[in-house]
Amino acid sequence: MNFRVLKDEVYIKRRQVLKSKVHSGVILLLGNHEAPMNYKDNTYRFRQDSTFLYFFGLDVAGLAAIMDCDSGEEIIFGNDLTLDDIVWTGLLPTVKEMAASVGVHKSQAVSTIFDYVSKQQVLKRHIHLLPPYRHDNLLFLHQALNIPVQQIHAQVSLSLIKAVINLRSIKDRLEIEELHQAANITAKMHLAAMTAAKPGMKEYEIVAAVHQEAIKGGGDLSFPIILTVNGETLHNHYHGNTIFDDQMILCDAGAETDLHYAGDMTRTFPVGKSFTQKQKEIYHIVLDAHLHAVSMLKPGVLYKDVYIKASEIIFDGLKQIGITKGNPSEAVQAGAHAMFFQCGLGHMMGLDVHDMEDLGEQYVGYDETIQKSTQFGMKSLRLGKKLEEGFVLTVEPGIYFIPTLMDKWKAEKLFQDFINYDKLEAYKDFSGIRIEEDFVITHDGNKLLGRPLAKSIIEIEEIRRESLGL
Ligand code: GLY
Ligand code: MN
Repeated sequence: MNFRVLKDEVYIKRRQVLKSKVHSGVILLLGNHEAPMNYKDNTYRFRQDSTFLYFFGLDVAGLAAIMDCDSGEEIIFGNDLTLDDIVWTGLLPTVKEMAASVGVHKSQAVSTIFDYVSKQQVLKRHIHLLPPYRHDNLLFLHQALNIPVQQIHAQVSLSLIKAVINLRSIKDRLEIEELHQAANITAKMHLAAMTAAKPGMKEYEIVAAVHQEAIKGGGDLSFPIILTVNGETLHNHYHGNTIFDDQMILCDAGAETDLHYAGDMTRTFPVGKSFTQKQKEIYHIVLDAHLHAVSMLKPGVLYKDVYIKASEIIFDGLKQIGITKGNPSEAVQAGAHAMFFQCGLGHMMGLDVHDMEDLGEQYVGYDETIQKSTQFGMKSLRLGKKLEEGFVLTVEPGIYFIPTLMDKWKAEKLFQDFINYDKLEAYKDFSGIRIEEDFVITHDGNKLLGRPLAKSIIEIEEIRRESLGL
């Protein structure tokens, strides 16, 4: 368990603002519980709920809290350890002590929450809930509110969701420092991958080197490592392939700090000392799209427009090598680029690697002025709305050659005016390339999080040559 918290005044202020935004009623926030892996006492690494961390900072399992928007009262519910617990876990601060460390002066045993909630229900007070994403919290709400499990999601509070997103979307100075730290550890993970890889190794041997850096940074992974020679599969978590010269490794990995702020980067590099000519051509296009997208990042810009521009650059680049044809802007409008770029350009990042995705992408990445597209490709754009100073986000264009998708679109004769299917055949075993970095939006532009890491072909090949002793 991690007991590092920010200064109590940080949490007090955040809760004050939240209560005033939600205005009236009672906010109920649930922390997470230990999650058993295969039997009760053998648990996954504990991960506190990020909204609970943001407002209460306590990285301890089994807590819940209320904030009364009308009276201002705040209570943390949790159970002190019994002697039996202490034998196994060691001594922990009492719930009262933990609560006081984050500026909360009332704490009660967990069992009293049921009484508290039913009293509020009798008084016809609005109980504001966030959507639960863990089944134990879903069951807890069912029990505490006495409503069927199937109806809990209909009871969540849109005003609370919007207030939380409003606050958590704009990162303050302390958070940006943490995110820089997460990006620095993340960059070390990628350097470790680029340095460790040797032809003949298994992917999992490199995964071990990458994971080690996250742990050495004092936290752990912000999401399961994607490290694969089959980079065309976007979230490929299989690590059992042997790696060969002329293949590329796509590594998408990130660390979270001990306060749980995330990093998320991707590099694609050759298993051998250099990219092949064919790989270089595609890499250049992805890098162009990446650099151009970054140059557009500033307050007021629609991230959807950045995505569209990156998609057009990808389409146009592929046109230069004969894979696509026609007008890039028309092709992207029609959705033909999604043959190569099936995912979005990036997402918000903070305490979650896909920040606040549990609260609903339609509220985090979109708003009243812009709706999510339903078109294949663009529908996976997690962030589309106008950028604001203090947003932290990823930029991660890529080109992916997915044989099943190629065969299907070709058989259905889709986008024949935009795609040269005959040329595409030669790319069936190409895999994929992605380049991802993390940025904070500043008052007039953007800033890269963390120290820069090799990204150009020359820089990456230099690391590979050195690592292979060539
Ligand atoms: N880095 C994993 C993702 O953004 O989905
Ligand atoms: Mn990402």
